[in-house]
Amino acid sequence: MEPQRSARSAPNFSVRSEQHANSFRSSFTSSFTTSLGRTSRSAESLTGSAPGLRMLTGDRPTGYLHLGHYFGTIRERVRLQQEGIEAFLVLADYQVITDRETTGRIREFVGGAVLDYLAAGLDPDTATIFTHSAVPALNQLLLPFLSLVTETELHRNPTVKSELEASGRSLSGLLLTYPVHQAADILFCKANLIPVGKDQLPHVELTRVIARRFNERYGRIFPQPEAVLTSTPELPGLDGRKMSKSHGNAIALSMTEDETAAIIRRARTDSEKRITFDPVNRPGISSLLMTAAMCRDTTPEKLADELGNSGASALKSVTTDAVNDFLAEHRRLRREFSEDPDLVRHVLERGNRRANEVANSTLAEVRDAMGMTY
Ligand code: TRP
Repeated sequence: MEPQRSARSAPNFSVRSEQHANSFRSSFTSSFTTSLGRTSRSAESLTGSAPGLRMLTGDRPTGYLHLGHYFGTIRERVRLQQEGIEAFLVLADYQVITDRETTGRIREFVGGAVLDYLAAGLDPDTATIFTHSAVPALNQLLLPFLSLVTETELHRNPTVKSELEASGRSLSGLLLTYPVHQAADILFCKANLIPVGKDQLPHVELTRVIARRFNERYGRIFPQPEAVLTSTPELPGLDGRKMSKSHGNAIALSMTEDETAAIIRRARTDSEKRITFDPVNRPGISSLLMTAAMCRDTTPEKLADELGNSGASALKSVTTDAVNDFLAEHRRLRREFSEDPDLVRHVLERGNRRANEVANSTLAEVRDAMGMTY
C-alpha cells in the first residue's frame, strides 16, 4: 500500500525543504574533492554528469545528530542532491551493536535522524532513506563479500582499531567485519559517490577492493565508488576533543536554544582575557571560536581579532547566538515535522520498500554471476 503523507506535511514538503536547502547554498565554501588524492573535481564539474551518479552515505543511530555531522557530511549531501545526484541514506542500525552490547534507544535515534535529514533539506521524494535491518538482500551480500577479504586486511583497518580501543571491550566478530557490511551498503545500490568524514576513508577503500575483486572473479557488476570529502575543517567538540555524544561535548541539531546556551556555558575555557585561536594550548577557547566561525561563515582567527580582549564569557555568548541563529530554520522545520506522528514511519516505509527493490535486483545479479541460480 502506498503510504499517505499527512495532509499537513504533504503538499508543501519538497518546496519547503528545497527553499531551506537553498538558503544554505550561499554558505557552501567547501570544494568537492574525492579521497586519497585519486581524483578531485569541483562541484561545477558535476553539473550535467549528475544523471548517472548516485550517492550513498549514512549514520549510525547511536545518538542525536550534531553540528559535527552537519558540517562534516549532511550539508554536502544536500548540496549533491541539489546537483541532481540521487541520494541513498542508510540508518545503519546493525552498526550500533559493533561496539556495545545492546541497541539501546535505537528507535528514538533513527526517528531523530530522519527528522534532521528532512529539516536539513534532504528530499524524501527523491532520496531513499532506509534502515539496514529492513533490507534482507543487502545483508546477504555480506556473505560473498566476506570471501573476498582476508582476516589480516580486516585487522589492519585503522578505524576499527580506534573504535575497538574506545569501546574498552574485546573485539566482536561484528566490529571486525562491519566494514565489509558497509561495503554492502554502498554496493547494493551501485553508488558512485560516498560523502563521508575522513575516518570513513578506510571503509571506502575496502569497498573499492571488494568491488574490484568481485568483478575480477565473477564479471563486472559493481562500480568503483569514490569518497567525497569537504574541505571544511573538522569541527571539534566543545572541549577540543572529537565531537561525540559520548564525550558530552556535542551540540545536537535538535537541542533547544536554552540547551545550546547551557552546554556552551559549561564548556571549559581559561581566564586569559585576550581571545586567540590556539587549538593546542587553548582547546576550549579554540573550539568555541571554530564553532562560531563555521556557523557565521568566517574564520576563527578573524573572530578572535574581533573579540580582542573581551574574555571567555563574551566568546560564549557570541558562540551561542551564532549556533542558535545558524540552526534556527533547521530547528523550526524539525519541530514542525516532529508534530506529524506518521511522517517518520512513512518516510522509512517508502525508503525501505525502494531499498528492497534495488537490493533484490543486485542480489539476483550477484547470484547469477556466481552461478547460484537454481
Ligand atoms: N560508519 C558510518 C559512520 O559511523 C555510517 C555508515 C554506515 C556509512 N554505512 C555507511 C557511511 C555507508 C557511508 C557509507 O558514520
